[in-house]
Amino acid sequence: MTQKKKIAIYPGSFDPLTNGHVDIIERALDIFDEVIIAVLHNPHKKALFTMEERIAMIRDSFNGEKAVQADSFGGLAVEYAKMKNAVAIIRGMRAVSDFESEFQMALMNRKLNKEVQSVFLMTGFRWIFTSSSIIKEAAMFGGDISGMVPETVKIKLMEKYAELKKQGK
Ligand code: PNS
Repeated sequence: MTQKKKIAIYPGSFDPLTNGHVDIIERALDIFDEVIIAVLHNPHKKALFTMEERIAMIRDSFNGEKAVQADSFGGLAVEYAKMKNAVAIIRGMRAVSDFESEFQMALMNRKLNKEVQSVFLMTGFRWIFTSSSIIKEAAMFGGDISGMVPETVKIKLMEKYAELKKQGK
């Protein structure tokens, strides 16, 4: 009997991808055959990087890894999961502070579609303090973010802030 491929989606803003995200994706690959990194198209949230830039950085970081796909989505994560035949939604947990909002979102997702499971993966200890926002803040003020994001993301962050500075923004 051929076993069905187990697909999970990993939804998020990924503005930009951090090594904390990479750690979660690597853990998810121990459980699932394919992980689709699903970048939310959110017209209400001002992002630093465009959708195309965020997806390109993800593809660059997982270059050649067939089990990792990058895509964009709009609307409900459970609807997108269904469309992709995914059985689970992956979310990373750093600290207790993540728990309440994640719990609420998981319960809403279950209410909307009980066939899609929420799977929470604990981030590696060294990534507990990392978030896209804190890394952007450090990078904006010229802080060294080496080792916190994939190399390609580090370069794009430096280019982006240099460009914004040139524009006087
Ligand atoms: O990286 P983020 O910003 O913490 O990701 C949040 C995200 C994209 C996972 C969440 O906002 C989401 O799934 N949005 C899509 C709409 C949805 O399905 N919301 C949850 C149930 S109402």
